[in-house]
Amino acid sequence: SNTEPLKGKTVLITAGPTREKIDPVRFISNHSSGKMGYALAEEAKKQGAHVILVSGPVQLPKPSGIDVVSVESAEDMYQAVLNVFDEADIVIKTAAVADYRPRVSYDHKVKKQTGNVMIELERTKDILLELGKRKTKQILVGFAAETNNLAEYAQAKLKKKNADMIVANNVKAEGAGFGTDTNIVTLFKRDGTVSELPIMSKTAVAQKIIEEITVLLKDLNKH
Ligand code: PMT
Repeated sequence: SNTEPLKGKTVLITAGPTREKIDPVRFISNHSSGKMGYALAEEAKKQGAHVILVSGPVQLPKPSGIDVVSVESAEDMYQAVLNVFDEADIVIKTAAVADYRPRVSYDHKVKKQTGNVMIELERTKDILLELGKRKTKQILVGFAAETNNLAEYAQAKLKKKNADMIVANNVKAEGAGFGTDTNIVTLFKRDGTVSELPIMSKTAVAQKIIEEITVLLKDLNKH
């Protein structure tokens, strides 16, 4: 029905940062609070979807009526996402996944050295890229956190990751990106449409994104 356009659909959302372990007391991470991803999860639930939220470590309360899968590292997130990907009709990748992790992680606390130390980093798996390859029926939505050349990078991601939509935010702009209650995003769709949204609460941004996905879903069913 029009009141619950996502009824019967499974929406998989990732949120928050990942933590890449150096040793039992140290890790490499980023400033994602999970607010954007959790707002999307709430909105998808409101529109009638079954929501699976794969979440990195955040300080937010566990939302009710949503299946939350808690993960730590990029590798954990990769496994958790691929476990449920086949069930999903819509996938939204809001998480700020680490691109690199320490090549070696120690199971004892690393002692202080006299001089400088080096931590060698290796690439993590690109989850979005993998999903783009495996995609069958799914609508795939990625995010792009940029500080410059927003449009150019977002368009490139859309193609390279075989996504249906990229939500780009300039994470250096005041009121946008990490940690804030608001965001400033531009939506880039596969059909070439670009919509630049003004500053809005993350809840309102989530409403807009879910609305756009509902339109994509309708187009999909027409063909
Ligand atoms: O959590 P908040 O504090 O509310 O902040 C929201 C946000 C800034 C984290 C969010 O709006 C956002 O931009 N999320 C994406 C952050 C990011 O990692 O962007 P990216 O340009 O590095 O990655 C692009 C896309 O690839 C993302 O969909 C990301 O989930 C995905 N990715 C990245 C690396 C990787 N190894 N696997 C991935 O799937």
